[in-house]
Amino acid sequence: MSNKIRLDSGSMRYNKKKWNSGYAIFFYKTRLKCYRSGAINKSKGEYNMTGLTKEIIDMLEQAPFAILSTATPEGIPNAVPIGAKKILDSKTILLSDQFFNKTLANMNANPRVSLTFWLDHAGYQVKGSVTIETTGPRYEETVKWIEEMGKKMGVPLASKGAVILNVEEVYSIGGPDSGRRLI
Ligand SMILES: Cc1cc2nc3c(=O)[nH]c(=O)nc-3n(C[C@H](O)[C@H](O)[C@H](O)COP(=O)(O)O)c2cc1C
Repeated sequence: MSNKIRLDSGSMRYNKKKWNSGYAIFFYKTRLKCYRSGAINKSKGEYNMTGLTKEIIDMLEQAPFAILSTATPEGIPNAVPIGAKKILDSKTILLSDQFFNKTLANMNANPRVSLTFWLDHAGYQVKGSVTIETTGPRYEETVKWIEEMGKKMGVPLASKGAVILNVEEVYSIGGPDSGRRLI
């Protein structure tokens, strides 16, 4: 048999094993990071963080996009990708509204949202409440930031509002700790 088509069950089993062990190492490293950052209390197994850790902040900054989920007061869900995101402090994230439509209507009627982001197979789900600023220094800074972003992208972008997300809960969404509450 030619080398090109060595897809017999033996080689498949070998590759699967290799893939699984790589995955196990990745999950172990993610878990270790959570323990080290204090995200998981080893002795009690309870969440004990008071704000976003460096790991979470780094991931949100590095992830090119996040998913912003909102819901109508009746509970009809709506999830959209967002790219304009900034960390203000360990409990506050700023998003910018350029195109929000159903998202904006939902947030005005029901401020509870969820923001999900990930890199590779690890990520976080942040839950909290939003307030929307359309005047004031934070909005003015957002307008400038989005204008610059548009220039870099070669498209005209204009912020209609600064969405201030107050972080209330954080959950892990990757590996063996998926679903575990961190904050
Ligand atoms: C990759 C990507 C990034 C986006 N980033 C933003 C963003 O940062 N801000 C924004 O207002 N809309 C952004 N949008 C548009 C929204 O995802 C969405 O199209 C818009 O909110 C209208 O949907 P809605 O009616 O469900 O709100 C982005 C869309 C894509 C595809």
